[in-house]
This record gives sequence, structure tokens and C-alpha cells, in this order.
Amino acid sequence: MRREYKIIEKYEVVPNVHKFVIRDPRIAKKVKAGQFVLVMANEKGERIPLTLSDWDPKEGTITLYVLELGVSTMELVSLSKGDSLYSLAGPLGHPAKVEKFGNVLLGGGCFGIGGIYPLAKAMKEAGNSVTVIIEARSNYLLYNREKLEGVANEFFTTTSDGSEGMRGHVQDKLQELVKDGRKFDHAYFMGCTFMLMQCARATMPHKIPTGVALNAIMLDGTGMCGCCRVTVGGHTKFVCVDGPEIDGHLVDWDELFIRKHIYREEEAVSYQSHACRSLTGYEREAKGGGEA
Ligand SMILES: Cc1cc2nc3c(=O)[nH]c(=O)nc-3n(C[C@H](O)[C@H](O)[C@H](O)COP(=O)(O)OP(=O)(O)OC[C@H]3O[C@@H](n4cnc5c(N)ncnc54)[C@H](O)[C@@H]3O)c2cc1C
Ligand code: FES
Repeated sequence: MRREYKIIEKYEVVPNVHKFVIRDPRIAKKVKAGQFVLVMANEKGERIPLTLSDWDPKEGTITLYVLELGVSTMELVSLSKGDSLYSLAGPLGHPAKVEKFGNVLLGGGCFGIGGIYPLAKAMKEAGNSVTVIIEARSNYLLYNREKLEGVANEFFTTTSDGSEGMRGHVQDKLQELVKDGRKFDHAYFMGCTFMLMQCARATMPHKIPTGVALNAIMLDGTGMCGCCRVTVGGHTKFVCVDGPEIDGHLVDWDELFIRKHIYREEEAVSYQSHACRSLTGYEREAKGGGEA
């Protein structure tokens, strides 16, 4: 019998970012911080990687945050509470490195604000002092604060427009803390590729070992198709099986950006011509796409 991946909760947490709680007792029992799943919204859709952002082994549920970007994420967010995903594979990838480092800095942007929570929790449980910095363009795009504040020793926000916290980005707050004499023994960042690169560049002069949750384009998630190939310290790695946590100081960022944008034209054409696009996020919600 085909397994069912039922959506038991779904709503837009901030504009364009949707929270999904999905029933999958098998994944909820096995998952560790830093791992991801490959999701297909429907039979004809692509498989897209999404970070396991929380889970409840007792309830048998997992939590995903989806940033709507192109066709596949749009198809996903058009699903409603009560619907089922077509397929869900995981947990995939290596768990993030968690040990007693000392002072740990975690940074998150866009979907990474949701995605860093399990790591913040695991780092705290491992005996670390955890500093969390999150970023968004404006304060109305910040979410997941209560959960992050609940596990972090220190919690900071940054916004591009200065509407909350420091005006700027995660790497700016990090520079300020280091300038004030703060020492960090380990750092980990999750969010868009540009943010990861900027954060890794900011920790490099201070010799802070830095893991980044790389979001290379993925297809099979098994190391076979080569789609998620990155060069790390001159060696070829596949993010799906060697990551997703990769040493941010060794990534060939220029190559990664070229590879990430390889299908940009096709993605834009596909997005422009896709049927779901005729509905705004709010119209989809009004049609039963979730609860506010
Ligand atoms: C390990 C991992 C964990 C991720 N976790 C999350 C998460 O928790 N929440 C979330 O919203 N997003 C996450 N992403 C990114 C997400 O998979 C992509 O945004 C999504 O696949 C885009 O699909 P699309 O069709 O909507 O957009 P597209 O139109 O295909 O692309 C829009 C942009 O996303 C990039 N992209 C396209 N396909 C993929 C792909 N298969 N993998 C990665 N990037 C892609 C493209 O380079 C382009 O810049 C993660 C990616 C990885 C690799
Ligand atoms: S997604 Fe195919 S090798 Fe990683």
C-alpha cells in the first residue's frame, strides 16, 4: 500500500514563507539536526529538498518551512491542510556536526530562520553557549523568534531596513560582536547562498570553523546524478550525500553560483506560464490552502 504523507497543519507564517506540519512517524523517529527531505507535491512535480526544521516523535510529525520561489515551491504551497504530498523521502544527508565546541554562533535567513532551530536546540543540549542571529529585509518577515529565544543564550535580529535590531545582515552583527571582543569556537549558517558566502567570508579572518548548509540544486539526492556537485578545497563533493553541512571556508562560491543559475531562464519561463500563478498566496489560502 502507498504511504500517505498527510498535511496536518499549514499556514503562511510571514509573507511567502509557509509552515507545513506533515505526518510521517518514520522520519520523525529517525531525524537528526541538519538533515533534509526530498518532497514531491504531485505526481508530475520535481523533487525538491527541504530542511527538517522540527519534529515530534510522539505525534509522528515533521515541520518544514517553504519559501515560495518558483514552480515546485508554488505547487507545494497550493496544497491545503488535509491534502497529502505525493512523495516524501528522508531523512537525507549527514546530520550537522554537534559536539561541545564552547561558544557557538548560528545564523539564519529566509527558510534558514526555521531551519536552524533543531541545531540551536541540539547545540544547547550538547553543553554549548548558543548565540543566534537571524536576518530579514524588514521586521514583518522575521518569524520563529519564540522558539529560537527559548533555546539560545543570546538572540539577535538584523533587518535591511533597520526596522528591528541592527540595520544590516547576520555577518554585520557577527562582525560587531567579534569587534566587541566576543570569541566563537564554531559557526553554522543556513539561508540563501549569498548570505552563506558573506557569513563564511566574515568568519574566515577570525579563524572560526564554519559550517554552511549548502542549498545546491538537487535531483536524486543519492549522489548518483551529479546535480549538486560543488568544489570544496579543490575536491569534488556532492551536497546530498557529503553535506548539506560543508566547510564554508573551502567552498568554491563562484562555481556554485554559476551552477545554481544554470536553469534560470527555464525556471523563469516555467514560473510565468504556470497555472497556479494566477492565484495570489492569499487567494490560495482563501480557497482552503491553510489557516492563518
Ligand atoms: C539541502 C537543502 C535544504 C533546503 N531547505 C529548504 C527549506 O527548508 N525551505 C525552502 O524553502 N527551501 C529549501 N531549499 C531550497 C529549495 O529546495 C529550492 O528553493 C527549491 O527547490 C526551488 O524550487 P522551485 O521550483 O520553487 O524554484 P525554481 O524555479 O526551480 O528555482 C528558484 C531558485 O531555487 C534554486 N533551485 C531550483 N531547484 C532547486 C533544487 N532542487 N534544490 C535547490 N535549489 C534549487 C534555483 O537555483 C533558483 O535560484 C533547500 C535546498 C537544499 C539543497
Ligand atoms: S542530487 Fe544528485 S548527486 Fe546530489
